[in-house]
Amino acid sequence: MPRKNPRNLPWWKKTTVYQIYPRSFKDSTGNGIGDIPGIISKLDHLQDLGVETIWFSPFFASPQADHGYDVGDYRSIAPEYGTLSDCERLIHEIHSRNMFVVFDMVLNHTSDQHSWFLESRSSRDNPKRDWYIWRGGQKPEGKKPPNNWKALVGGSGWHYDGLTDQWYWAQFLPFQPDLNYRNPDVKREMFDTVRFWLDNGVDGFRLDIINTVFEDEEFRNNPFSWRLFPSEDEQKSFFQNKIYTMNHPDNYAFVKELRKVMDEYSDPERFLVGEIGASLEVLKRYYGEEVDETRTNGLHLTFQFQSLNANLGANAFWDIISRYEQYFTEPYTPTWVFSNHDQMRRISKLGNDMNKAKLNVTLQLTARGVPFIYYGEEIGMFNHRFPLKTAQDPVALKYSWLPQFLVNLLTRKGTFSLNRDDCRTPMQWDSSPNAGFCPAESEPWLPVEPRYETINVENEESDPNSLLHCYKDLLRLRRNTPALHSGSLHLLDLYTHRKFVLAYERRHNEHVVQIRLNFSSKPIRIDEFMGDGELLFSTLMDSNPVRNTGIHLEPYQGIVIENQMDGT
Ligand code: NOJ
Repeated sequence: MPRKNPRNLPWWKKTTVYQIYPRSFKDSTGNGIGDIPGIISKLDHLQDLGVETIWFSPFFASPQADHGYDVGDYRSIAPEYGTLSDCERLIHEIHSRNMFVVFDMVLNHTSDQHSWFLESRSSRDNPKRDWYIWRGGQKPEGKKPPNNWKALVGGSGWHYDGLTDQWYWAQFLPFQPDLNYRNPDVKREMFDTVRFWLDNGVDGFRLDIINTVFEDEEFRNNPFSWRLFPSEDEQKSFFQNKIYTMNHPDNYAFVKELRKVMDEYSDPERFLVGEIGASLEVLKRYYGEEVDETRTNGLHLTFQFQSLNANLGANAFWDIISRYEQYFTEPYTPTWVFSNHDQMRRISKLGNDMNKAKLNVTLQLTARGVPFIYYGEEIGMFNHRFPLKTAQDPVALKYSWLPQFLVNLLTRKGTFSLNRDDCRTPMQWDSSPNAGFCPAESEPWLPVEPRYETINVENEESDPNSLLHCYKDLLRLRRNTPALHSGSLHLLDLYTHRKFVLAYERRHNEHVVQIRLNFSSKPIRIDEFMGDGELLFSTLMDSNPVRNTGIHLEPYQGIVIENQMDGT
């Protein structure tokens, strides 16, 4: 069956997204905390980088117990980040650069300091009681949680409240009580909040743990599982298969209702991207069903976290791409994520190697799907390692009782950190003290990563060989090449080199662009593809890989060529 390849994809399928963690991007007041005016002062960097959409982790009013993922008021801005008018200016400044704005919507839970929860917990007959999920404990004395449900971060998700002698449910940490979406007032209020921001010009939302909004109505116990550690594509963890607390079927219907709210707005069309830890099969359900050749009726996009820990190898990416192409052909669109504010930075999983980072981003920006770039990834900021005991991250603090040798053992493979502070250090703008994030005499909320004197925007700007220039070149190429932002993808089997080299082509109408990625530490000559294709991009500046004796790839070299050769 020929693959679908619609000519005109909506903007949100072609875009490239850059994630800003506001606390860490740029401080304009000298208090060591990033803020909105600081972000505005750096928008030119992002425009120059060439990303098209900016997603902000939450800066709504909040006690900041989880740095904004504990919202205290969805319609105002936390004073440390700025004011509502700063926020309006931010949206305006982004739009005036022809870029799009994505906010982070935490629908699943609020802060326990939100006025709704304060009311809700005050008495059993308060009108807001049913806005959250309250239950009596197990009989006879009710001093045991209502059932065995565990939180995403481990431990029971039920928390006892002595005032009314009941338990409330929290998927994440105890200070983040879950809203009860079976109450129509809650749904109405939150959909109106979404409209409030859409009316203010927001172009889309990233939906925080959107697969945990609904739980089983009968509160049945989750069955046992042998799995201890959570993983990004699994709903089993902490010895439980969370069938009653994750990916409940009511979530699929819920996202369709939310989609209808988004569809009330057009010009531009607005979009939703869901944070969901699940298999590809489950993720696909959140997209809903196909309605026309470019659209479904659920979430526009979901994160595929399958790439986060993928080996940097031809086989691993062959496998991931084939599965994405199997599950997410048009009108479904995959996403490409390698780092975010919860994960160890990808470059550190690659041994802090700039050449490998260049290869990795060549794949990210040339494969089919929407790429999400995490702030600092474009300059190759390293992950830092902070001790758990001094963490600002509440999840790390929860586990700060763990002995250090155990932490070392758990993180020995260098693929994950237990402390999310590690990936949230201040953005490195230049080589001045505090990396230009805040004034030299201020104390940043997290220390700057020590290698900032070499790894920073200013330095990399002036080095044409830098990772930053590699990002810029690729982003420009992608923007200007329909085959890359809208084309179909076809894997090419290089049978003699399939272990080391990944090859694929992107096609849009008659236009074909080919990508070759050498994942090995050795130079490789590919004879199967002789020709004189034009080199559009290479991770290595001074090499000429396309010769009449074949394609000569240096170790970890990635290239993009334009030609009509048929590689199948
Ligand atoms: C997922 C977010 O990415 C994370 O940072 C946050 O702590 C939890 N959801 C709770 O909102």
